[in-house]
Amino acid sequence: MCGIVGYLGKKDCTKVLLDSLSKLEYRGYDSAGIAVFENDSIKVAKTKGRIAQLEERINHEGGIKGNCGIGHTRWATHGEPSDVNSHPHGDANISIVHNGIIENYSKIKSFLETKGYVFESQTDTETVAKLLDFYYDGDPLNTIKNVLGEIEGSYALGILFKDFPDRIYAVRKDSPLIVGIGDDEAFIASDVPAFLKYTNKYYLLDTNEIVVLSNDGVEIFDKHGAPIEKELMVADWDMEAAEKGGYEHFMLKEINEQPAAINATISPRIKDGMPDLSECGLTQEKLAAYSNIFVVACGTAMHAGLVGKYVIESIGRIPVIVDVASEFRYRNPIVTDKDLVIVVSQSGETADTLEALKLSRKKGADTLAIVNVVGSSIAREADMVIYTHAGPEISVASTKAYSVQIAVFYLLAFELAYAKGAISQEECIRLTKELQSVPATLEIVLKQDELCKYVASTLVNAENLLYIGRGLDYALSMEGSLKLKEISYIHSESYAAGELKHGTISLVTDTMPIIAVATQRDLFDKTVSNAKEVKARGGKVIFVSHSYINVDDDVADYKIGLPTIDDLLMPMVAVVPLQLIAYYTSVLRGNDVDKPRNLAKSVTVE
Ligand code: AGP
Repeated sequence: MCGIVGYLGKKDCTKVLLDSLSKLEYRGYDSAGIAVFENDSIKVAKTKGRIAQLEERINHEGGIKGNCGIGHTRWATHGEPSDVNSHPHGDANISIVHNGIIENYSKIKSFLETKGYVFESQTDTETVAKLLDFYYDGDPLNTIKNVLGEIEGSYALGILFKDFPDRIYAVRKDSPLIVGIGDDEAFIASDVPAFLKYTNKYYLLDTNEIVVLSNDGVEIFDKHGAPIEKELMVADWDMEAAEKGGYEHFMLKEINEQPAAINATISPRIKDGMPDLSECGLTQEKLAAYSNIFVVACGTAMHAGLVGKYVIESIGRIPVIVDVASEFRYRNPIVTDKDLVIVVSQSGETADTLEALKLSRKKGADTLAIVNVVGSSIAREADMVIYTHAGPEISVASTKAYSVQIAVFYLLAFELAYAKGAISQEECIRLTKELQSVPATLEIVLKQDELCKYVASTLVNAENLLYIGRGLDYALSMEGSLKLKEISYIHSESYAAGELKHGTISLVTDTMPIIAVATQRDLFDKTVSNAKEVKARGGKVIFVSHSYINVDDDVADYKIGLPTIDDLLMPMVAVVPLQLIAYYTSVLRGNDVDKPRNLAKSVTVE
């Protein structure tokens, strides 16, 4: 996600825009820029880097004086961080800033090129700027309406038209956009923090609404151009709370961002109901030809690979070897030019993963990176890249990045299985549709916040804890265990439920909680038996399964019921309570949830 701002008033616009952008850097910070009316011309300054670099550039170029303008801080999704890819995009007549993803930008770009347009950036946003120019008929609202009829995807746009100085036009579809209302001044912004210093009053825009800021005031229209009245909201947040969108910690905010992050990641890669990863060069022919697939990563990213392994092997019937990067790179792995090595990394900078990637390339394998940060070292080193669109993940404990990583693995598994003829097109479409239902399903699960908080309260004084599961539940429980360990500092271990009786069950006492994950219905009865085994020895069992399945008191002390989707995709649903339990346990233990002791967000050293 990116941050967009706009200001119209009597203050120094450049100063207000830079200040407002600095409050949105948590939304993206790889480049920034502003466009301001100066003597009725649109003056633009933009740069790769942080707001500070932008301010230096503006001052170096003699400053920009004006009272009306727009600004942007970028989280790259299309095109790596660079001056030319920075926003605003456009020309002397039209300048825009954008937050979101234009899903059909390639088609529009090709059309505009046939009309003689020449593109300079790799962004989807530049396409919108040029489409506005193409449709411009002297009436900004009519121009905007024509463009909105062509573009697909999610967007919040801030737009300046040279012919209408001291006016800001803005549009919202899915990506957040609000209108700050001050004394004799108005703002547009992606989020409240941008203008909270100047006013706490704002209008919330709904999707497909257009707003015009002018010296006559603020006007809001629906997509047909009909004026709309809005309730004036009042933000009662302090600045820090506002940056977290009102959540107490970034981790809780990011857990709640998962539906949107998953949607932003999978939607552009589903065409006519079928997965389509061809954008990264991973064709169905290539997928069908690999002898083995390796997944190499660290921590949570490796756990995403474990889920990927079970799914790809289950329906694609190709061996998947998952390894932690720090082991893979030193065990002289048997990788050949017939293999695909997938490296997974939120930051794209993890040293072990990067070195494992380089080793794989030396051994002649095709390499694919699943990465959240555009233009990161791992993204640049791999033969192919699939970017996740989770937006910046600030909290050290990875949550939404994990969910979007496994979402990509599902798309890859479905496409590979179909390409190999292991599943029919009908089955592939069914599974893809099930994946598309996940964001809405998560909205239901996220409402179990209070139950997870209560369960966490029973864990606060635990010293040791076991997570058990079978199959995909075992893969998922690895992630649940790491989440708890790294932010609550309680020792926990994930264990294959069927393996407990071979030694580890000796640890079980009445002071040891066990979280049993049982979403795989073909293994359900066996996991129930394992839960009974530990309960019979005094263990306190927290049972995570489908809400429609009842379990007796001799199985569980607490039950977290989940909405049911295809078992193959249940890890995407079941991970949420595990994240929330870890989060609340950490909060209740008084820990620094977003910055746990000893940890860093990106481990760029061995
Ligand atoms: C996850 O909660 C941890 N912060 C850590 O395990 C992390 O997943 C790991 O360091 C890998 O980071 P990456 O995804 O940026 O490569």
